[in-house]
Amino acid sequence: MSEVKMSQSLFQIDSSCGALILAAGRGTRMHSRNPKVLQTLLGEPLLMYVVRALEPLFGDAVWAVVGHGAEMVRKVCAGYPLRFVEQTELLGTGHALMVALPALRAAGMKRVLVVNGDTPLITTETFRRFLRDAEGAAVAVATLTLPSPGAYGRVVRHQDRVIAIVEAKDYDPVLHGPEPDEINAGIYLFDLESVEKLLPRLENNNKNKEYYITDLIRLAVDARMRVSGLHCGSDPHLLGINTPEELARSEELLRRHLVRSGLEAGIIMHGSASVRLGPRVTVEPGAELYGPCEIYGRSHIASGAVVEAFCHIVDSHIGPDAVIRSFSHLDRAMVGPECTVGPYARLRPDAVMEQGAHVGNFVEMKKAVLGAGAKANHLTYLGDADVGPGSNIGAGTITCNYDGVNKHRTSIGAHAFIGSNTALVAPVSVGNNAVVGAGSVITRNVPDECLGVTRARQKILPRRRLEEREN
Ligand code: UD1
Ligand code: CA
Repeated sequence: MSEVKMSQSLFQIDSSCGALILAAGRGTRMHSRNPKVLQTLLGEPLLMYVVRALEPLFGDAVWAVVGHGAEMVRKVCAGYPLRFVEQTELLGTGHALMVALPALRAAGMKRVLVVNGDTPLITTETFRRFLRDAEGAAVAVATLTLPSPGAYGRVVRHQDRVIAIVEAKDYDPVLHGPEPDEINAGIYLFDLESVEKLLPRLENNNKNKEYYITDLIRLAVDARMRVSGLHCGSDPHLLGINTPEELARSEELLRRHLVRSGLEAGIIMHGSASVRLGPRVTVEPGAELYGPCEIYGRSHIASGAVVEAFCHIVDSHIGPDAVIRSFSHLDRAMVGPECTVGPYARLRPDAVMEQGAHVGNFVEMKKAVLGAGAKANHLTYLGDADVGPGSNIGAGTITCNYDGVNKHRTSIGAHAFIGSNTALVAPVSVGNNAVVGAGSVITRNVPDECLGVTRARQKILPRRRLEEREN
């Protein structure tokens, strides 16, 4: 056993081996206008899972063939060490490899791991094992055994050796023998020199009229090259996603896995069956989550923090002992220690709450800082604003940050008191310990320690009689 472990850890990928993700396809069976590889699992595009699994093995030697929605795909991948080849005509997976080959060669590649971009749950470890077992083959392919092989490519063996892969549509028991339950997982290793000889022989005489990468298996066998069919059990994590049903299946597999790991690590979850955590989310042990809730992106939840049901949190940081009450929506927000948010609060990008600040129901923040212990408890909009520590923002306060052309900031000092139903017309400032009378429209700065009030003085007049009013 120790020997196996040794060989696994010593296995190294040499620099002449790279990776190629096939991501140009239309994804017709998904019935969506978006490229299939940009469909998401727990908030992250399918393609990014594949990129992240390959990166530890190949570094920046990871390429993607893009075609349908290429611009959109490139945009989503910006920031990842990914190189692109464009397949302008979508003539099949074999054609995708043909199109990519010159670029791979120019980069000095001798062997390439090819993987379908719609197979997001493969792990780095699976790739590593596959590469180790594929050592020395001209063509290697990973296979799976499925109780119902569906639309996946069928693996045809003769005396245990793989001799062909036949697509489900093209499978004919008379020609190919009794239908096998072993399928092609869509992970290949190719020796480029060998495959260069085979690619010109690819034909598209099949039901789809496409050039299939899978036909390279039969061509390699015919050319007496070394072909390995590496059986990887029946792990559903290796299945490609083609339909909404398969997307839901894979997303649920991943969701359960992430929730189980979270529970094991000490996250308290109520209704864990409806807690949805993205793969890059970090939650400290002792944090408490109530389902249903969705926490995605690079969010972090510190120990002692509570996220109640029906919250949607993306790329946000929740400090220790903060409470996010039900139905709150956070996107790129920073919530400091011991803050309370919601219920029904909306924190938009660059909303920052310092220690112990409170945001209550129907309060929206955007590019705004609420200082330590400051409160905006009801029905308020704080946009492009700074609020000093200990200040109180009355119900119905609006920072009027937009003049129709430009955005301007509102600055409120420490321990200020903004009366209810105030409009602060930016750019404007309210000083430390200043007070703004309820119902004011503030267009000029209110200095420290001063009262600013703009509403008309209340009059008390004798009421007219009913008869007079009717005339
Ligand atoms: C493919 C395999 C099938 C295997 C299955 C595993 C072929 C012919 N069949 O079938 O044997 O069981 O994957 O999941 O390869 N793509 C391009 N350019 C194209 C066409 C497709 O880049 O011209 C990309 C797609 O974006 C996708 C991948 O290649 O990521 C696979 O294509 P897809 O149409 O999903 O192939 P399957 O029918 O699933
Ligand atoms: Ca597929």
